[in-house]
Amino acid sequence: MSDKLSRRGFLKGGVLATGLIHADRARAQDDGVISNTENLSKTKATLEESGKAAKDQSSQEHVWNSKTQIDTWINLQPKNFEVSAEDLSLDMLRSSGLTSCKKACGQGVCGACTVHLDGVPVNSCLLPATALHKKEVTTLEAYLEKPHPLQLAFLEEDALQCGFCTPGFLMEGIHFVDHWRERFGNSSPSREKIAEAMSGHICRCGAYEGIFKAIERTCRGELDAAAEQGKQAANRTRVDGWEKVSGTAKYTVDHQFPGMLHTAVLRAPHANAQIDKISTQKALRAPGVEASYLALMEGAKIRFFGQSIMAIAAQTEQQAKDALEMVEVTYIIKSPVVGIKQAMSKDAPLVYQEDEQNNTPSAAEGGTFPAKWNRNVRGPVKMHFFAKPKKAEDILLNLRGDAPLHNEGKVSYINSKYTSQAQCHSSLEPHACIAHWQEKTDGVFVDVWYSTQAVFITAQDIAERWEIPIERVKVHAQYVGGGFGAKATPQAELLYAIEMSKQAKKPVKVVWSREEELIVGGFRPATEVELETAATTSELQAISMNAFSDSGVAIGGAIGILPRILYPEVPKKLLDWDVLTHGPAGRPFRGPGGPAALWALEQNIDQAAVDLGLDPIEARLLWDKDPIRQRLYRWAMGLDIWKLRNSKSAAGRSERYLRGIGAAISAWPYFLNPKTQIELRSNGVGGFVARTSTQDIGQGVRSVISVAICEKMGINAADLDVVVGVSDAPMGPPSGGSQSTASVTPAAEDAASELMMLMTDLAESELGLQEVKCIFKKGKGGIKHSEGFLSWSELSELLGSLTVMGRRRRDDGGYKINMGVFAWGKAQPAGLQIYEVEIDRQTGKVRPLQGWLGIAAGRIVVPQLAKSQALGGMIQGISYALYEERLFDPNTGRHLSMDLNDYKILGLGDLPMLHVHFDHTSLDSVEGGACGIAELTTIASAAALGNAFYNACGRRVYDLPLRPDRILKVLS
Ligand code: FES
Ligand code: FES
Repeated sequence: MSDKLSRRGFLKGGVLATGLIHADRARAQDDGVISNTENLSKTKATLEESGKAAKDQSSQEHVWNSKTQIDTWINLQPKNFEVSAEDLSLDMLRSSGLTSCKKACGQGVCGACTVHLDGVPVNSCLLPATALHKKEVTTLEAYLEKPHPLQLAFLEEDALQCGFCTPGFLMEGIHFVDHWRERFGNSSPSREKIAEAMSGHICRCGAYEGIFKAIERTCRGELDAAAEQGKQAANRTRVDGWEKVSGTAKYTVDHQFPGMLHTAVLRAPHANAQIDKISTQKALRAPGVEASYLALMEGAKIRFFGQSIMAIAAQTEQQAKDALEMVEVTYIIKSPVVGIKQAMSKDAPLVYQEDEQNNTPSAAEGGTFPAKWNRNVRGPVKMHFFAKPKKAEDILLNLRGDAPLHNEGKVSYINSKYTSQAQCHSSLEPHACIAHWQEKTDGVFVDVWYSTQAVFITAQDIAERWEIPIERVKVHAQYVGGGFGAKATPQAELLYAIEMSKQAKKPVKVVWSREEELIVGGFRPATEVELETAATTSELQAISMNAFSDSGVAIGGAIGILPRILYPEVPKKLLDWDVLTHGPAGRPFRGPGGPAALWALEQNIDQAAVDLGLDPIEARLLWDKDPIRQRLYRWAMGLDIWKLRNSKSAAGRSERYLRGIGAAISAWPYFLNPKTQIELRSNGVGGFVARTSTQDIGQGVRSVISVAICEKMGINAADLDVVVGVSDAPMGPPSGGSQSTASVTPAAEDAASELMMLMTDLAESELGLQEVKCIFKKGKGGIKHSEGFLSWSELSELLGSLTVMGRRRRDDGGYKINMGVFAWGKAQPAGLQIYEVEIDRQTGKVRPLQGWLGIAAGRIVVPQLAKSQALGGMIQGISYALYEERLFDPNTGRHLSMDLNDYKILGLGDLPMLHVHFDHTSLDSVEGGACGIAELTTIASAAALGNAFYNACGRRVYDLPLRPDRILKVLS
């Protein structure tokens, strides 16, 4: 067995798999999982010895023994439960199989656990189970037979993506809608009213616009007739939508298996320490404990607050937590390094000694590039592609310190410093894994239910690390409650679940709490960016960037990647530096490096335009010759909001409020997995099944495959099942780097063509039909023959089961980089954002009023879902710019943002009006014509808001997030 999780991923999964390699190290360092076979076997032996004693003692030591009987009605059925005073309603309901109520925070903040108690919405995560006595409880399962119109409206408006928050929103929404209609008839409530009613709910995917519309339409009674027809009236544009709005979609956290063990993890209470002594004996003898994993041994270094030390699996989660209390650890505590400034000081403690520097985890989505170390600083990272550093330096050298020359209005030279904060991924479904290790007569079999963005790569990693033939490993991820990059690579939860299942010979479930999610669940690095630009009215002359990233104990901030592909003709000197601190390892987050890079670059560009008396978008049109972005510049310049921006800003100003409008451009590489395959089967009874081992994390890849096949064959979506989220299907792409759509669309179309050809041939050879011709007609595809017409479904029944394999064909002209299962294609998708903001001079609050996003990514396969994704990306970008901020205690390195109150995510009430424009011009070189859009939608938001702020007040803000205290300071 190898000591670390697989490194083969780089070859297998490209942009995400490269993350795997480094996430190996991340796991090793972050969660203390540097492999310890010897240690494991010791732990196992101790467990076996202590097992008997534990059982003997269990009845004496277990404190959870004061049970009480409660009688309740759940979804109109009388039920009784035996509960203890400590039990919570949510856990009780979920363990009885009602998994529509989700646990996303357990802190009463997100609303995912909402149920009705005597008809009133409550957060069941905070409600003692005893409070259900003699009460009536309603969960979303109550609407399985007869849907509520709001469920159908959610599907009509696509008011969901990953769907994890959806049952909670629906339960709150149903209560609101029903009461609204009782009082006000079929009328529309205001957005303010809806936002107020939904204020206790968070959707990390940002499906808010659809939620507003769905509630409005249901209040007007528009879905009543459809609801009368039952679930067959459900809109299936989002192929897995019904499962998500009915609460029947099973996420990893929802699965339960007989005998399954639950876990808890002991985490370090210090940011920089060494384990002096650790004693686990008592814990291993604790009641219910059946397995453990010791991640850090005596002498091991702790490099961040929350680093995992030991995991325990027991019959109940409480038993696992109780057992952890019995682990005795003493620490040698040292001063931590917190933040970039402190880490760069000469006398800062070292996060890694010289001999440890080759084993650092990576926060990069791609591979990390070589660089030298100087104490806690690593860099500059050598990435010389798409840049001309010497030329840039020569140009800038002439301008530095020569203010009079460049202030004559001919040259704009700007030298600024920008900072940005760490942003936590915070998917609403936390990191979770259930592993079942089974030793059978014919060998070991491992089934893993995993909240992951990469089933295929995960299965390969498991096979390699535990030396099991790949055909005996199966990874399941039918539904994934958000990822955003943090679940792109296997993490410690997978390791712990498998190792402990192997020990206990039972299924073992590992689920991070919200607190753990915010600490070790992943974050976008904090940055400091020094940026110089030089421009004249006719050209952008040079860009120089020094970008310092704080990814905690990880390297690979890679802020300078994105500026390489923007303004391609301009000489650039782009230097990336990693600054190591005592914090958990960062992970790739939607558009890695992009938001921080554009926050600096696009504000400097904006300022240069202002300095030179140019319209900021017109300036970009002059300085950036990329044809795709040129189309977006022209689109933006034609918008009324832009044409009238100065008069509109002036008109919106008052003594208290300022108004401004700003824009920023973005680009994202066109990534794909050229080896994607889709198996398409005609099932012999009139239906079709498509299978590939990708996963739908809310981006709608099931729907993309469905549309690509149905449009090609002319069949109805109802006749096609799309199976994803299983690793034993043919190779599909990871969900990350915006590569899903570009990978699956052509493979799905190819599968459809192959099947039609095969069926046409067999119609002649097997059925003896003559003059056979394919007919492509929406919903009516099939073959015409000398005696009439047969639809593909009818042919399926006549020909029996048939299977073909569709492959992604190579792009015309090839790729910039092709590594087999990962390629960087030649097209260049782009996005442009514009915001109108209002600034409150009294409170310092920045409020976006409206936003526009133009996207040029070729063909949009499922426009409604693409629009949802685009809105969600903008919302995540606004949330990052205005609210989200991970905070540490500067003295101890402890996290201060431990719940979703302290770590604020944008809610419905904060939502501006948002508009999305797709430039459908085809990208000819792209096979299938479609590129992904996920990253493009979010990376320019902060920069566009920063530029709008400048337009409002003539002052620039350099630090993210745009907190009121900072804004007041800038305005003063
Ligand atoms: S899980 Fe109950 S409010 Fe978040
Ligand atoms: S759809 Fe709301 S959290 Fe994903």
